[in-house]
Amino acid sequence: PASTAGSATAVAHPNIALIKYWGKRDERLILPRTDSLSMTLDIFPTTTRVRRVPGADHDDVTLGGAPAQDEAQRRIVTFLDLVRERAGSADRAVVDTENTVPTGAGLASSASGFAALAVAAAAAYGLDLDATALSRLARRGSGSASRSLFGDFVVWHAGRHTGTEEEADLSSYAEPVPTGPLDPALVVAVVNAGPKDVSSRAAMRRTVDTSPLFEPWAVSSKDDLVDMRQALGRGDLEAVGEIAERNALGMHATMLAARPAVRYMSPASLTVLDSVLQLRRDGVLAYATMDAGPNVKVLCRNADADRVAGVVRSAAQGGAIHIARPGPAARLLLGDG
Ligand code: PMV
Repeated sequence: PASTAGSATAVAHPNIALIKYWGKRDERLILPRTDSLSMTLDIFPTTTRVRRVPGADHDDVTLGGAPAQDEAQRRIVTFLDLVRERAGSADRAVVDTENTVPTGAGLASSASGFAALAVAAAAAYGLDLDATALSRLARRGSGSASRSLFGDFVVWHAGRHTGTEEEADLSSYAEPVPTGPLDPALVVAVVNAGPKDVSSRAAMRRTVDTSPLFEPWAVSSKDDLVDMRQALGRGDLEAVGEIAERNALGMHATMLAARPAVRYMSPASLTVLDSVLQLRRDGVLAYATMDAGPNVKVLCRNADADRVAGVVRSAAQGGAIHIARPGPAARLLLGDG
């Protein structure tokens, strides 16, 4: 079995949003302002093992074999507290996480991380949760993690804005989005793998609180989601790319207008964005998206992935290039004891 005697191991993959999650309406429950929609990747998995240790007086958390540092440790312990509260257990745990993606670089390590942690911790603590409930649980670790519970294309519902807290919490979950044939690839250009200056959490808060462009973006993002679902449904990758690019650049515009401005784009990012424009001028389907960091992800046809990667590689000035395709749902690994 995947979990015996209070121990479980899970693997989850990162996701990249095509319709972005940017802005919370409830910081404690991590309820977003808007719906978002992503593609789960088939690269950079996170593997997390949770082992309950009855009688231990603290949680022992390691990331890649090294003790977790302050902020990461605090977030993981807070998350385990939530699981313990639901499970009615006081047991502390040993948590070992192996990330294959550079942490904190806007490459969604928190998405795969909290999705894997949610699945492993729920199993280790004996919570019997379906994928929907697990997506709500993962959401409490990091909003985008809710989407990594599922493979391929995934929507995360913002949930009910009226009614009780519980109704809001119950209605904010992720689920798969049906699509027509797409055969996409996502070329990831890592122009800077270092940790970012401003966390997505802090940047989101500042944007919602101070940016005059936030409300208009949130309104237009609703329309983008409707258009995106239709484009995915008819298998129209060109439209998917167009909508994803405008939604992401709009999100970055909200941050540039925040006070003080949050700017994740670097000169290298802009050079990569220029190369994406050039690809389009040359007749190649290629559209860019960016998250809370300078790295650029380029959506293209799988058949064009090598060509796109080549062009992006020369633009990325030595940065690493990865090619991702739609990836699998989070899952428990068998054989953990
Ligand atoms: O889940 P967080 O708090 O790391 O926020 C992620 C926000 C973006 O990556 C910028 C957008 C998204 O929808 O993933």
